[in-house]
Amino acid sequence: MANERKRPDPCSFIIFGATGDLTHRLVIPALYNLAASDLLPEKFCVVGIARKGMSSNQLTESLKKGLHKFATRPVDEAVAERLFSCVTAIEADPSDPASFDAMNERLDKLEKARETGGNRLFYLATPPSAFLPISRELGRTGMLKENGAWRRLVVEKPFGTDLASARALNAALLKLMDEHQIYRIDHYLGKETVQNILVLRFANGMFEPIWNRNHIDHIQITVDEKLGVGHRGSFYDATGALRDMVPNHLFQLLSLVTMEPPARFDAQAVRSEKAEVLQAIQVQSEQDALYNSVRGQYRAGRIGDTEIEDYLKTPDVKPDSTTETYAALKLTIDNWRWAGVPFYLRTGKALTIKRTEIAIKFKQAPFAMFRNTPVDRLSQNYLVISTEPTEGIELQFNTKVPGPTINIDGVEMKFRYKDYFKAEPSTGYETLIYDCMIGDNILFQRADSVEAGWQAVQPFLDAWKNAGGRDLQSYKAGSSEGPEAANALLTRDGRSWRKLG
Ligand SMILES: NC(=O)c1ccc[n+]([C@@H]2O[C@H](COP(=O)([O-])OP(=O)(O)OC[C@H]3O[C@@H](n4cnc5c(N)ncnc54)[C@H](OP(=O)(O)O)[C@@H]3O)[C@@H](O)[C@H]2O)c1
Repeated sequence: MANERKRPDPCSFIIFGATGDLTHRLVIPALYNLAASDLLPEKFCVVGIARKGMSSNQLTESLKKGLHKFATRPVDEAVAERLFSCVTAIEADPSDPASFDAMNERLDKLEKARETGGNRLFYLATPPSAFLPISRELGRTGMLKENGAWRRLVVEKPFGTDLASARALNAALLKLMDEHQIYRIDHYLGKETVQNILVLRFANGMFEPIWNRNHIDHIQITVDEKLGVGHRGSFYDATGALRDMVPNHLFQLLSLVTMEPPARFDAQAVRSEKAEVLQAIQVQSEQDALYNSVRGQYRAGRIGDTEIEDYLKTPDVKPDSTTETYAALKLTIDNWRWAGVPFYLRTGKALTIKRTEIAIKFKQAPFAMFRNTPVDRLSQNYLVISTEPTEGIELQFNTKVPGPTINIDGVEMKFRYKDYFKAEPSTGYETLIYDCMIGDNILFQRADSVEAGWQAVQPFLDAWKNAGGRDLQSYKAGSSEGPEAANALLTRDGRSWRKLG
């Protein structure tokens, strides 16, 4: 998240999993967008690693097809040609150490020819099971040593599957390289609105004085997805909504909205404040976790014209699976700013619309003044920050309905990014990849943040596992709210979820 747009240092961009979906769908289109904005290094090469022989021509053709399919803006062939002219395929398999030695030699030669100065950005676009084997080989061959040139490693999500595995992965990676070399990516942080949370809070004098337990009643974070599990049954059934979304995406939103103001806008200060607030999430007992959570699984239904089949009939999903496709949690943060303020988080699949929002509900004004008017209930004051379906910020407040009597109604003031700024559509990976190349890790997760996130969700994982599915609710695909029990999580506190706008 740099202040000025500068060209990154010369470097090689080395993608493990170059034949995969992420590379084709997001990484290459993002590199193309950076190339089109003149934000790639002048001396640059893209190296795609595949385990089985693939020529540079074959890889280039496949990536070109991917770009034309997934580009977010019309493709300028001259820019695409410049990008693809620097693509090389190399065969390497982490289970064959000799192939990594050979890869290192090829990279040495390539970077001499391309004058990239030995700077290497390794991108692990592979299944998580390959993160460590690849990193170990990079370490063994000395490719992670920074001798006058930088070496960086981008690790995709998911980072671990629970607290123990995240800790083990961090410990193993930190034996091979320093923290500053590791870029744990969460693509939510590539979204403009998400980055704007810090600006909204800390560049405007009016919000910070009321951003605390004295004025905020509670905060809701919603990440609803319209799609069902589709062809990702095997991955999803082993993962579930909680692991897939909460310790990473939802906690990124939570930490940005609740962190203390950092002393400086730099990676060290911002990441320390984010880690601190995640560490302050109260770690619940299993019993409390069960009481403060709802999980559900979707049954057959319809969204628009699309029939969604029962989750249990999805290919590669166990017919008696208890994996949740919906999760709602109530959390608290044990610090002075947030003591007593509940945080309600929910995420689910196969819901009516794709929606991502943070809704900050302010405390109600005293009613006394309007006691003798027809008004018996004021509308709720929400500040809503949303990235889906529109990127923007909305403030809901009460106003007088024109006329001789005091009638009050709730109205909305809306800011939409697209009304003010003409940003080119992007994949969301551009800023993140650019930041890796310029060495700015402010938008990437540090080891302590990742572990704090897992620590807070671990009791829910344990409680649900030990409940053996007794707590599992169901909801119809295409419903707007998920399981009915998710409403009870708030109504018992005298609150309710914000309805679809
Ligand atoms: N796809 C997305 O939209 C998306 C979004 C966010 C995050 N992610 C994350 O990105 C990563 C990749 O996802 P994907 O959807 O691209 O998966 P994918 O389509 O299955 O591709 C992964 C690639 O990794 C390589 N690979 C598989 N096993 C390997 C191993 N043991 N060692 C080395 N390479 C191996 C394979 O290439 P070869 O067989 O040619 O070596 C394969 O093409 C995952 O961690 C995923 O969670 C994906």
